[in-house]
Amino acid sequence: MKTLIVYYSLEGNTRMIAEKLAEKTGADLLEIRSLKVYPTKGPAKFLIGGKDAAFKKCPEIEKPEKDVRDYEAVIIGTPVWDGTIAPPVRSYLRDTLIKTRNVAAFACMAGKDPKKTFDVIKELVVTDSLAAEVSFYSPASGNDPDMESKLNQLAGCFIKEIPVPESTLLT
Ligand SMILES: Cc1cc2nc3c(=O)[nH]c(=O)nc-3n(C[C@H](O)[C@H](O)[C@H](O)COP(=O)(O)O)c2cc1C
Repeated sequence: MKTLIVYYSLEGNTRMIAEKLAEKTGADLLEIRSLKVYPTKGPAKFLIGGKDAAFKKCPEIEKPEKDVRDYEAVIIGTPVWDGTIAPPVRSYLRDTLIKTRNVAAFACMAGKDPKKTFDVIKELVVTDSLAAEVSFYSPASGNDPDMESKLNQLAGCFIKEIPVPESTLLT
């Protein structure tokens, strides 16, 4: 299935997973770029980003370079911020009508229990279920021992069985 991986990443973890997934699947990548610059250091990092996430802010984002309507499946990747999706991902999902039912998601986090993150994605995509909900624990630091199997789980989501023509079957 023609698949688009849409993601936002502040510090590289979600980008790393998205790129590995694209390598495995041949899917296209679309990075969500925030026009609001979120700090990556000091107390401001958690204060500003965390507050925007908690208050469901939608910062301005760059116009997406790819159109989701050209794809049969979408994989959404987000870092967990204050227990939910990162604000630029909220902006993207607010502005984008994802019509396909083939949607999977992954989240990168430094803590535990990202469930609310996936619930918010389902709410914004308007779907009851995702093909996969996969969370990675600080993967860029090498802290997730199951990274490879989780990548395979996501990569396997939208592979369509290609039927072998009868004439080529051995008898
Ligand atoms: C503003 C902010 C809030 C965060 N809140 C959480 C959180 O609630 N739970 C959690 O597990 N990790 C939290 N983190 C850590 C990130 O989810 C984690 O480092 C993730 O891997 C970062 O992904 P990235 O490198 O793609 O930006 C937070 C990070 C930031 C910057």
